[in-house]
Order: sequence, then structure tokens, then C-alpha cells
Amino acid sequence: MAPILEIKGITKKFGNLVALDNVDLDVDEEEILGLIGPNGAGKTTLFNVITGHYKPNSGKVVFEGKDVTGWPPHEIARMGIVKTHQIVRPFSDLTVLENVTVAALFGRERMSTRDARRKALEAIEFVGLSQKDDELASMLNVHEKKMLELARALAASPKIVLLDEVLAGLNPAEVANALDIVRRLRDERRITIIIVEHVMHAVMNIAERIAVLHYGRKIAEGKPEEVANDHEVITAYLGDPELALKFVRRER
Ligand SMILES: Nc1ncnc2c1ncn2[C@@H]1O[C@H](COP(=O)(O)OP(=O)(O)OP(=O)(O)O)[C@@H](O)[C@H]1O
Ligand SMILES: [Mg+2]
Repeated sequence: MAPILEIKGITKKFGNLVALDNVDLDVDEEEILGLIGPNGAGKTTLFNVITGHYKPNSGKVVFEGKDVTGWPPHEIARMGIVKTHQIVRPFSDLTVLENVTVAALFGRERMSTRDARRKALEAIEFVGLSQKDDELASMLNVHEKKMLELARALAASPKIVLLDEVLAGLNPAEVANALDIVRRLRDERRITIIIVEHVMHAVMNIAERIAVLHYGRKIAEGKPEEVANDHEVITAYLGDPELALKFVRRER
């Protein structure tokens, strides 16, 4: 089966800074791919290139066999590629239901407001936020805001979801809950997932394959246990002792 997403030789520069350096990455349909790397490695930038928010200096993004490089973000979203944000920014003066309804309206399927609302309610239930659907987004705690991000992503009827640090700031019980929802997105909704994460035991646990970025270069790719034992990967993380320890120990 051809990969659902092919990243071919992507280079992205900001002035003199090479944020992505000739990155190749294939993503298979219905896989959960972990994308890791130290701060500033280029993970969010790669997501922004995939979603059309940044134009690469060179290289291609091919989705379902179609070259979508340089397409505007709304057209990429219509194709079924949806990203959650590292800095969560719902419309604070809208309720949870309104936020998710908007996401449904701008998603892959064109639908009436009424259908979008129905779709939103279903997505809100999927992530366990039903008790909060009338609350203003600004009133939610961190975990609930992250779940709202997941509901917004799901309501857009995506084929692939790019998760940018959805676990950051969550306590262990909330991490377990979020991982369960992410797994169900794939198992029950058959959505392909790329997950960027610093919570190492979590990404090692949920991802079937892991790619590692370091200074914009892909330095490793493979099964979690292969990547965790890769010398270059461990060395890359030694720049940050806390992360390195987490990585080597594979906590929990
Ligand atoms: N819009 C921008 N303008 C200029 N430089 C940028 C921009 N976005 C990212 N960068 C730089 O590109 C590099 C990669 O940043 P990016 O945000 O992709 O890293 P990351 O892997 O997501 O890091 P983190 O784990 O901290 O989120 C960094 O050096 C960053 O400062
Ligand atoms: Mg980032």
C-alpha cells in the first residue's frame, strides 16, 4: 500500500536558519507515527509545512498520491489533514460546542450548520467533554482545553491528524486518558496519526514507529525500541540531561 503521506526532501529556512534540512518521511495509512526531537528540532515547522502554513524552500508534500506542496491551509484541511496546536488557542468567547461546530464547518465534509452541530456533539462525546459543551472555552482547564483540541480535530472528519504536544502539562492520569482517546481515533475512526511529543514514555508506548529530528535533520527512524537504543538519538538528547534520562529509562 502506498503511504498516505510522503514528505520528500523538505527544506525550510528562516533567514539563515535551516529549520528543516532535506527531510524525507513516509507515513502509512492508519499508523501512529511518533515524531520526536529536542526543542527547536523542527517538529512544529514540519507540521506547518504539511498543513500549508509554511511554504518549503524545496521538497514536496504528497498526500494520497497528490502533490499538495504550497497549497493554502484551508485546501489542505479540506483534503483531510488537520493539526492540533502546541499553544492551544480555542475561540475563548465561544462555548465548547460552538468551537467544535466551527471546526466541523471548516472540515473535510461540506455540511449544514445543523449537521455540523450534530457532528460536534458526537466529537465532544468521543473525547469525554459532554458535561462541558455549554461552557466558554476560556473556562476550561488545561486537560479540557487539550480535549477540546482533539474534538475540533475529530469534527473536521480528518484522514490524518497531526498532534503537537497534546500531552504537555497533563498529569499522569490525564496523559493515560488522552493516549486512550488518541488510540481510539486510530482504532475506531481509522485516522492516521502523527504525534509530536516530549513525554517520552507516552510516545514510546503509543507510537508504532518513531522518527527523530535534530537540528532539522532526520537522524533516526524505526520501531520505538530501535530508536531508543540508537546512539545518535541518545547523544542528541544528552544536550538536555532531563530528557536524556527519561529517554534512556523509558519510564513506566
Ligand atoms: N516563524 C519562524 N520564524 C523564524 N524562526 C522560526 C520560526 N518558526 C520556527 N523557527 C525556528 O526554527 C527552528 C525549529 O523550530 P520548531 O518550532 O519547528 O521546533 P520544535 O521541534 O517544534 O521545538 P519545540 O519542541 O520547542 O516545540 C527553531 O530554531 C525555531 O526558533
Ligand atoms: Mg514545537
